[in-house]
Amino acid sequence: MNVFHIVGARPNFMKVAPVLNALKERKSVAQTLIHTGQHYDVNMSDVFFQQLGIPAPDVNLAVGSGSHAKQTAEIMTRLEPVLLERKPDLVLVYGDVNSTVATALVCAKLEIRLGHVEAGLRSFDRSMPEEINRLVTDQLADLLFTPSADGDENLRREGIAAEKIVRVGNVMIDSLVRLLPAALAASRDGLPARYALVTLHRPANVDDSARLRGILESLLEVNRDLAVIFPAHPRTRKRIADFGLQAGQLRVLDPLPYLDFLALQARATVVITDSGGIQEEATYLHVPCLTVRENTERPITVTMGTNVLVGRDAAKLRAELQKVLAGQAKKGTVPPLWDGHTGERIADVVVRQPPVRKAV
Ligand code: UD1
Repeated sequence: MNVFHIVGARPNFMKVAPVLNALKERKSVAQTLIHTGQHYDVNMSDVFFQQLGIPAPDVNLAVGSGSHAKQTAEIMTRLEPVLLERKPDLVLVYGDVNSTVATALVCAKLEIRLGHVEAGLRSFDRSMPEEINRLVTDQLADLLFTPSADGDENLRREGIAAEKIVRVGNVMIDSLVRLLPAALAASRDGLPARYALVTLHRPANVDDSARLRGILESLLEVNRDLAVIFPAHPRTRKRIADFGLQAGQLRVLDPLPYLDFLALQARATVVITDSGGIQEEATYLHVPCLTVRENTERPITVTMGTNVLVGRDAAKLRAELQKVLAGQAKKGTVPPLWDGHTGERIADVVVRQPPVRKAV
């Protein structure tokens, strides 16, 4: 059986690695890895392949950046001939990025079976490009691998047949479990004893100058009580420069490799972020997480984990930070099936699939 994995953007490299590893053990499966090239900088892509032990992609579509329509269309245009020629039995896509939805559209039209890893998450906010990507991908997928029960419920509400939905847990946590010891082996020299780790890249936060200015002002205020370490996404760094904003005393770094970021996160006093995956990692690591968004597609990190949504409310961010500094941060537990074995559960399902394409 020929299984293809299509990835393209940073958050999905840690999701594909456990599935690649688990399927490597299954004799009936041959695997092909395709990188769309959505993320192409060394520190957004190559270093993740090295640290996660992902083999070099069999094909790189090298699409690069562009508007949503252009990037999505470019991926579709370059992927279609590859799939037509190589005829996969099953294509697996991950998360909610443009590479995910573009692949889903191509597979649906070619009648190639599609599995979506991290299905069913919903922010119920259609102004987020990722929400559109999630909705479309899940409608088109034949197999939907969910991380938690809320995902199953969302899918059933949208009319997805129950037999297509398999709750497998959180695959990204597999990579964290595997690599946390290596991450923590790194020295903490040069790190402050206590610090806030910050990441920001959501269009709603960084593409609007007044909003980004407000967030930077809040972070400068945080920085008076707690050193702020801020590995900045290229998009965010560019916006700070374009808008002529100042990051002042904040320690702004380039995007960090996986292990370096994991070590910083595990040792942080608090994480302040608008990322989806970091809300989950912080929950697993029991690190308090203040999310600079009005909503989350990962509500279990709020109901069970350490996550608190502070939205656009600077006063709430301040109040929650004071709780953390006073030792009264929200305590959380790790959700069920976030146990480091999700890749194996996905592999178990994959090998039970009929080894035929939907179309002849
Ligand atoms: C994408 C995903 C988002 C994910 C994020 C993680 C979509 C719709 N969004 O957002 O869900 O959380 O990745 O990083 O797919 N850039 C570089 N170098 C790179 C990649 C990007 O400089 O290697 C810059 C380019 O200026 C580009 C901008 O970042 O225009 C945005 O990149 P893009 O992949 O379009 O979206 P992200 O904001 O990274």
